[in-house]
Amino acid sequence: MRAATATAHPNIALCKYWGKRDRALNLPTNGSLSLTLAPFLTTTTVRWGVEADAVVLNGRAAEGNEARKVLAVLDLLAPGRPGVEVDTSNNFPTAAGLASSASGFAALVVAANAASGAGLDHDALAVLARRGSGSATRSLDGGWVTWARGMRDDGLDSHGVPLAGADHWDVRMLVAVVQAGKKAVGSTEGMNHTQATSPYFAPWIVSAEADLPDAADAVRARDLERLGRIVERSAMRMHASMIAADPPLCYWQPGSLQVLAAVRDLRARGVSAWATMDAGPNVKVLCAAGDAEAVRAALAEVASRVEVLSPGGPARVVSATA
Ligand code: PMV
Repeated sequence: MRAATATAHPNIALCKYWGKRDRALNLPTNGSLSLTLAPFLTTTTVRWGVEADAVVLNGRAAEGNEARKVLAVLDLLAPGRPGVEVDTSNNFPTAAGLASSASGFAALVVAANAASGAGLDHDALAVLARRGSGSATRSLDGGWVTWARGMRDDGLDSHGVPLAGADHWDVRMLVAVVQAGKKAVGSTEGMNHTQATSPYFAPWIVSAEADLPDAADAVRARDLERLGRIVERSAMRMHASMIAADPPLCYWQPGSLQVLAAVRDLRARGVSAWATMDAGPNVKVLCAAGDAEAVRAALAEVASRVEVLSPGGPARVVSATA
């Protein structure tokens, strides 16, 4: 039996992924760009070569679909593999409404690669992480990461690629929690429904692809105003496509609108703060490190809880035993 432990941070998309061109392979209809965020962290230990498969999530045996998805990724890594134990835990509250699937599948593939001795390189691991959860392909790397749509049917050209490291630009991402708990409609279901029924899905894809090179330039130039405008409109256009689905899909709660209004107020007062939202009601806010306290104070007036996150490093192996 060989064991390895790896860690990975979650990421938040600045230019969103919403839509699959291949559901089985988790291939996106459009590219995306994200920021990997600390101190939130998933730690995963994989024991390779045990009697029977077992998956433990935050101290409890995972069942059904959760366990199946984890084991399916291991089957792809090493067809005909031996029994494997996976023990994974998050240091962040699921109540923060941050997707733990991104950091979870990134930590899983890195730990399993080390424990199995499979020796996959970065891109192969990023492709494998994508199979578990699309956004996980962006959590292999630290800092600013792009995920291209790719052109190949097998998806080998569609995975996370580092754009700039965590120390490139000292920004903050604040998470304003307006409602804790599990999302009502999962991201895969939400995307498929939007894609199948929204007349705004096609224009969303055009707009999302067009934003990517501009957003990458703004990151390279450390131009918060330019990046922030793209970030906020990317999220609003993604949500517009869902709200126009049939029946409509709306993740927003009254509290979400209050946070969005607080962000606009901050900008009216000269603070460069920019909102983004994922498949849930919570709002994430991008700002300069020096403005984080002012932004936190403003968000705390309308949100039930506020987390302040900073750019984080890549997924990595922290220990391995033969
Ligand atoms: O890959 P998933 O299932 O975690 O979907 C991610 C969807 C969004 O969070 C809404 C957007 C994104 O790019 O992360």
